[in-house]
Amino acid sequence: MAETKTILRALAGESQAVPPIWMMRQAGRYLPEYRATRAQAGDFLSLCYNPELAAEVTLQPIRRYGFDAAILFADILLLPQALGAELWFVTGEGPRLSTLTTEAEFEALKPAEAVHETLNPVYETVRILSRDLPAETTLIGFAGAPWTVATYMVAGRGTPDQGPAHKLKDENPALFDRLIARLEEGTVEYLSRQVDAGAEVVKIFDSWAGSLRGADFDRYALEPCRRITAALKARHPGLPVIGFPRGAGERYEGFAQATGVDCVALDDGVTPEWAAEHVQKDGCVQGNLAASHMVTGGEALVEETRRIVRAFSGGPHIFNLGHGITPDADPDNVQRMIDTVRGG
Ligand code: CP3
Repeated sequence: MAETKTILRALAGESQAVPPIWMMRQAGRYLPEYRATRAQAGDFLSLCYNPELAAEVTLQPIRRYGFDAAILFADILLLPQALGAELWFVTGEGPRLSTLTTEAEFEALKPAEAVHETLNPVYETVRILSRDLPAETTLIGFAGAPWTVATYMVAGRGTPDQGPAHKLKDENPALFDRLIARLEEGTVEYLSRQVDAGAEVVKIFDSWAGSLRGADFDRYALEPCRRITAALKARHPGLPVIGFPRGAGERYEGFAQATGVDCVALDDGVTPEWAAEHVQKDGCVQGNLAASHMVTGGEALVEETRRIVRAFSGGPHIFNLGHGITPDADPDNVQRMIDTVRGG
């Protein structure tokens, strides 16, 4: 049977007159219904580990806007937690983890196969979603890329420049490489179970890839993504993979070919015209409207949306933001973006 889901068609390389659309962080604090369910769960992590409520918040933006894809509601930091790191969220500040900078702290981590014990509720969320999503909606699973997850594990929190992870990789590359390898194995385990449970596409979020330069970009962003993609495709032939090396700039060029991903997600640090010429020539791209338009709205939102649709109209494209929507966004601006993409 010919594929009818618009997202899967784009990932297979098809250009469509109206590009399919979804939005990073589409289930999030800008939506009053999300805030209500999160309050019901108690806190963010309890929401992530409650399959019924996590499925509910995943479905909320699908009901409200009819996006072409739903992204599993979870977080990239659940994997380090499943490997044995402590994890908690400080309201208004962000994530906190136990730090990892020594051999002893690395040795205390669990093996990759042990992650399922903690992550089973996430797979249950995927099963509920694959049962309850509308037939035309694609279900996307995800994980963080090893480098990005490592930046949080080493520092114990988000940092402006990922300094602690850079320091560890430069001062103790042997230890850092072992950490990356464990995260790769854990990520393959985690994503593979999401696919078994019903995820149709997986996305690898490398939010801090842009802080890696030169050979470091190859070693810590490109190579792990290539190995994870190869391992997943060996286990699940035909599985579409989206890579998101955020901030990669000119290193977006060639990323799909070097890693084997089916689609490269673009942040708004590159223009759609440049990306159409240098990235989309190799296959599907996703992106890349600046998330700030969801706050500011107006004619600029409509013009930029049209510009992106036009620039990528010659090849396979999934419309998205360049990064996650922020809590101060106006839900009406999201509708305006969707209407512009679908209606011209
Ligand atoms: O996109 C989606 O709707 C799916 C769910 C999703 C979340 N986080 C939910 C979330 C996804 C795909 C992520 C990915 C994620 N998590 C990334 C990579 C993408 C990116 O944004 O760069 C990163 C770096 C994280 C780690 C993380 N989680 C941070 C730094 C924070 C705090 C910052 C913030 O926005 O509050 C989170 C919390 C988080 N993850 C929230 C949501 C909806 C907000 C938590 C809340 O409800 O209080």
